[in-house]
Amino acid sequence: MNVPITQVLSCDENGVQEAAALLQAGHVVAIPTETVYGLAANALNETAVKKIFSVKGRPQDNPLIVHISDLNMWSSLVADLPKHALALADAFWPGPLTIILPKSDLVPATTTAGMDSVAVRMPSHPAARAVIKAAGVPLAAPSANLSGSPSPTTAQHCFKDLNGKIPLILDGGSCDVGIESTVVSLVEKPVLLRPGAITAEMLSRVLGETVAISEAVSRPLKAGERPTSPGMKYRHYAPRARVILVESDLESYIKLLNSAAEPKTYGLVFEGEQPLALKPCITYGRAHDAASQNRELFASLRQLDDCGAKLVYARCPDRDGASLGVYNRMLRAAAFEVIKL
Ligand code: TXA
Ligand code: MG
Repeated sequence: MNVPITQVLSCDENGVQEAAALLQAGHVVAIPTETVYGLAANALNETAVKKIFSVKGRPQDNPLIVHISDLNMWSSLVADLPKHALALADAFWPGPLTIILPKSDLVPATTTAGMDSVAVRMPSHPAARAVIKAAGVPLAAPSANLSGSPSPTTAQHCFKDLNGKIPLILDGGSCDVGIESTVVSLVEKPVLLRPGAITAEMLSRVLGETVAISEAVSRPLKAGERPTSPGMKYRHYAPRARVILVESDLESYIKLLNSAAEPKTYGLVFEGEQPLALKPCITYGRAHDAASQNRELFASLRQLDDCGAKLVYARCPDRDGASLGVYNRMLRAAAFEVIKL
């Protein structure tokens, strides 16, 4: 629905009811979640779901995550609810975990982009669950950005990308987590398809078996390779600038940054490191602190665009455990361009 200006409402009762009414009428609405803002539509209404793809400019073969407010909704969406899936839900829902299982006939092919499985999560953001509950239907929602731009972690980010394209954005403040949910597939043996705040180690502990991490998390797809998760093949989170991820100690990094010839070079660094740099810097969290890096990364990438950065040297986060999520997003923002010093 093209509108002259997109309305922004707070997440009070009125905002929630307004969002629910629009969703019931088949419209698309941006809502806050604890991970990133979602561009939501009734997951069971193909016409509504098609609007998500057209508003975002999202490739048709990239399936959506379906958001629920209670476990009954989940049983209606999947062919079967195995015990290990329920164990994960019990441990991590509501929260930033998406679980993929074979789908039921209720879920239209448009929502899953023709796949036989469906990705489901129960968000912990109270406004997200309130909207799902008030709408009375599960909501398909990808991140509420234009395809290719960094995911939105504030209502202002959504407004910048989507003003005039959707009727309503619910403003729930800054997202607590800041990167998208962990995606685990239980279609066959458990495999982690996208890292996030819930780590493979945390999932393995609950399942009592090791959750494999898809190789595509940390490397580009090979030519002709069929991804387990279609989202893996698209360049994501990309600011307009060329981003280069620098794996090195702080001293070598600073030398590289300070010697850059391109006048619009920026550093993307950790808190407290700016004074060493002769180039302008933007920070994304504290060194070795995945939670603060997750929270700030996407806003910092957007800020680099706003500054007109042409070349960005980015400090590399840790790559294990809780840091794998931010490393995975950073690799994609850098289109896998990495310098090791
Ligand atoms: O935190 C999140 O998950 C956010 C908020 C809004 O909830 N949503 C989100 O959605 O990140 P999106 O569409 O940007 O990412 C969905 C990812 C894609 O990589 C997609 O390919 C994968 O999940 N996916 C969805 N359904 C799948 C399926 N049936 N099989 C394999 N991968 C699937
Ligand atoms: Mg996305």
